[in-house]
Amino acid sequence: MLRSPPQAVFVLTGAGVSAESGLGTFRDAGGMWSRFDPMRLATPEAFAEDPDTVLDFYNLRRCGVLAAVPNAAHAALARAEARLAARGGRLFLCTQNVDDLHERAGSRTVVHMHGELLKVLCQACTRTFARRTDILRTDVCPHCARIGTLRPDVVWFGEMPHHRDAIEAALAGSDLFVAVGTSGSVYPAAGYVSLARARNIRTCEINLAPSDNADAFDEARYGRAGEAVPAFLAELGL
Ligand code: APR
Repeated sequence: MLRSPPQAVFVLTGAGVSAESGLGTFRDAGGMWSRFDPMRLATPEAFAEDPDTVLDFYNLRRCGVLAAVPNAAHAALARAEARLAARGGRLFLCTQNVDDLHERAGSRTVVHMHGELLKVLCQACTRTFARRTDILRTDVCPHCARIGTLRPDVVWFGEMPHHRDAIEAALAGSDLFVAVGTSGSVYPAAGYVSLARARNIRTCEINLAPSDNADAFDEARYGRAGEAVPAFLAELGL
């Protein structure tokens, strides 16, 4: 059955879309959470107890992001966004990733539901601002002049993801939901495929291997994102 091309595409990406850029995933064999304890590095309690260790962990990850380059999957998604816009459609890109590879590949609207590693949050005045260098406990907030209140502007376990209303509104108005490079193990992102199915929105998973919620998808394309994403978007004329 020939389908009409999608006009309102919702793409959810996870760590797998940046794997071929050299940024590690979390739950694959040898993934970050098999080497580090997220409860000691990625929670507000861990930061309160040992800020230097947490800051060092994110300073190291920030260096990795700055050294990485976007891959063919990031580039294909940026092209698809432009092509959809040219025909009066839209691609809503929601990422769980805290890197800036989608932006560097040319995606113009990227919604970071888990925050951004290249931004800093002041816990005292709650202002956020761009930062490409290490965050130290001795840093002074440029807005409120307090010392020791700066942290990476990323969402830790136990904290609320960003932009949930805008994300769910965009999902509801979509005619295609595509998940790329995510294990489907962390909510609310892992539940978005169910929200799509409940609205009879076509769903497709693009991943190296079936994810935890693979059964919820209508279709799947398995392989490395750098090949599978451009190929799938080409099927859509994007
Ligand atoms: N191409 C496509 N998929 C890949 C590739 C690749 N080259 N390499 C790995 N994958 C897949 C893995 O098979 C896995 O299913 O990407 C997925 C990555 O899953 P996770 O490591 O769990 O990462 P993610 O789903 O993004 O984690 C969600 O958990 O720890 C939190 O905040 C963190 O945003 C993260 C969230």
